[in-house]
Amino acid sequence: MLFGPESSKEFNLSPQSYWKQVTLPQFSPVRESIKVDILIVGGGNTGIVTAYLLKQAGHRVALIERGRCAHGSTGNTTAHLTSVTDLGLTKLVRSHGLAGARAVWDAGVAAIDKIQEIITTEKIECEFERIPGYIHTSIRGEHDETFQLQREAELAQELGVSAKFVNRVPIFGREGIRVPDQAKFHPLKYLAALVACIPGDGSHVFEQSEARVFDGANRDFVRVQVNGHMITCQQVVIATDVPLSGINNLASATLLQTKFAPYTSYVIGAKLPPNTAPAALFWDTSRPYYYLRVDHHLHEDYVVFGGNDHKTGQAERTNDNFVDLETTLHRFLPTACVDRRWSGQVLESHDGLPLIGQVVQRQFVATGFSGNGLTLGTLAGMMIRDSLMGRKNQWHDLFDPHRLQLRGGIWNYLSENLDYPYYLLKDRLMPSENRGLESVNPGQGAVLKLNGQRVAVYRNEDGHATKLSAVCTHMGCIVHWNEAESSWDCPCHGARFDVTGKVIAGPAETPLKPVEQIQGQNLDAQSSDR
Ligand code: FES
Repeated sequence: MLFGPESSKEFNLSPQSYWKQVTLPQFSPVRESIKVDILIVGGGNTGIVTAYLLKQAGHRVALIERGRCAHGSTGNTTAHLTSVTDLGLTKLVRSHGLAGARAVWDAGVAAIDKIQEIITTEKIECEFERIPGYIHTSIRGEHDETFQLQREAELAQELGVSAKFVNRVPIFGREGIRVPDQAKFHPLKYLAALVACIPGDGSHVFEQSEARVFDGANRDFVRVQVNGHMITCQQVVIATDVPLSGINNLASATLLQTKFAPYTSYVIGAKLPPNTAPAALFWDTSRPYYYLRVDHHLHEDYVVFGGNDHKTGQAERTNDNFVDLETTLHRFLPTACVDRRWSGQVLESHDGLPLIGQVVQRQFVATGFSGNGLTLGTLAGMMIRDSLMGRKNQWHDLFDPHRLQLRGGIWNYLSENLDYPYYLLKDRLMPSENRGLESVNPGQGAVLKLNGQRVAVYRNEDGHATKLSAVCTHMGCIVHWNEAESSWDCPCHGARFDVTGKVIAGPAETPLKPVEQIQGQNLDAQSSDR
């Protein structure tokens, strides 16, 4: 086996995440109307764990997923299990006091403990291991936060959190904080075993099953139309990354949406000679920050390195982010041999804390995990199970989706929500390039103005062009081409569509319209094939 930057070039890089090499069990679509106690919409980590815990608590559940389970954001995770939050303890203490900060820390601890307990109970072989985490000064060297990290370590001691300042963090050789007892596992090995525990005794898992119409008009139950059939239930849990509106009214659903924003994060995977680096998790203080996970296997180590986050749909030349990651990784691990790269979406909330709880009678939501979805998605399952069993827990008010605190958070609430009017006007008023269909090369996409309309044109490798309305079906902004993922991404609220127009990520709930359905168009008169 060759290692190092040169050997990376030998590889045809896989566009799939490291975890997706594992096959999950397959489930059939909804083919008849059924009744259950609780319907969980979204078959990622949050949905699967919630369904599992609710079934364990004696409920009949149905878990529905519009594609394949664990193949959306969950499959693109970097699989850090951690109680460290993006906010840091100093900011947490400032906004929520010592008790609040400690409660947020304990949430992560409780979730990791629950994951370990499930793995032990169900005897799941998924490479779970307790490893340390390191937060260290910026590897871009853009600012020196040594003093702030020292202060964080002191605050951790004050809170009774086991973390200490170190002068040299492994691999990066920088000052930082060592946090023991974090963890890592193989998320899809874990979820493959967990999802298999759900069906039976009146509970179900369905794939290729999209929730289309929610009816909560009758106060005694909720009816959801899926694949033309009805699922009738007492409660609905929306566990899609970006929450569907469900039975929530439009004003309330829109208000919820202003409390989080989707960001795209880039990741590369690389092989290393055995024992090159200690098994651990790392985060630096760059903005946006880089993150690294090192795994030890029998014949080689494997690293997952990510960063370069930006708001979804708001970056050009997205492939450059992968180039930067590879160059940066080789500065610190020159023998790394990169064999795959992928990107994922993370939802940042307005104050850095997740939004978990009831949004309206009979409907729960769990979102805004800020890149810590495996840990906080597990916590969401625990909290929703507690609520449905009438138990209160210490995080109920802290993570309540209706909480009002809008200041002192991780981003500025008002400026963050200016994206919608800004991009709506900018993209519509911007003069379009004078380009015809023939200017779009195979494997590429572009938004063109054809017959006075913005059209999202994608040409496949065989030369066939697919033409879709470039108007986002959420609230009418113009989608942008994402070259790294070959998708159409909306800069306003982060909806994503594949090259056929199908929704990959909300808040849009309906596909981009084929151009033939745009009123008054005759674009077929223009050549679509080469
Ligand atoms: Fe909201 Fe596109 S207009 S996601």
